[in-house]
Amino acid sequence: MTILLDSSEFRRVFLIGFMGSGKTFWGSKWAAVSGFKFFDIDEIVEAEQGKTIAEIFAQDGEGHFRNLETDVLRTFVDKQNVVIATGGGTACYNDNITWMNTNGTCIYLRSSAENIFKRLISETEKRPLIKHLQNNELLFYITEKIKERESFYQQAEIIIDVDNLTEDYLPDILKRKDA
Ligand code: S3P
Repeated sequence: MTILLDSSEFRRVFLIGFMGSGKTFWGSKWAAVSGFKFFDIDEIVEAEQGKTIAEIFAQDGEGHFRNLETDVLRTFVDKQNVVIATGGGTACYNDNITWMNTNGTCIYLRSSAENIFKRLISETEKRPLIKHLQNNELLFYITEKIKERESFYQQAEIIIDVDNLTEDYLPDILKRKDA
């Protein structure tokens, strides 16, 4: 799908998808080459709260975290020409997918459960939903959770399969028409 907006039109691009799908990796890279500002919702929540996400889950519970990430997400209504990496669950709570589709363009970074597993196996500690899981349990969790979340992720206007993406790839939405 090719979407080229007028250079005068604002662009607010939300990257959604499962943990380990590369939202931060690709988002910061794409923002840098296209001149957009990059933001990561998890990082903003941690900075504002002065706690890691693992600490927020442990001390205040997941529900509280969901409200914090939603509050941060909604602040982007005031920003333009930005690429925003959401958390893996952001699109699935508080009607955030509808809000993002109304206020910008969502890109779903789709990856297979096997590839996500390979990326997450060595970094479960900082992710409270998976930190107690190992090997087959982790793969099972990822597979089931993707199935549960897919109906939210699929509402993105653009879906990109990231498993075979080359480093020089840039989504059309981030190409400036006048570039
Ligand atoms: C979560 C994903 C994490 C973070 C939190 C919850 C989820 O973000 O928001 O641990 O529910 O999938 P990443 O997708 O950046 O790991």
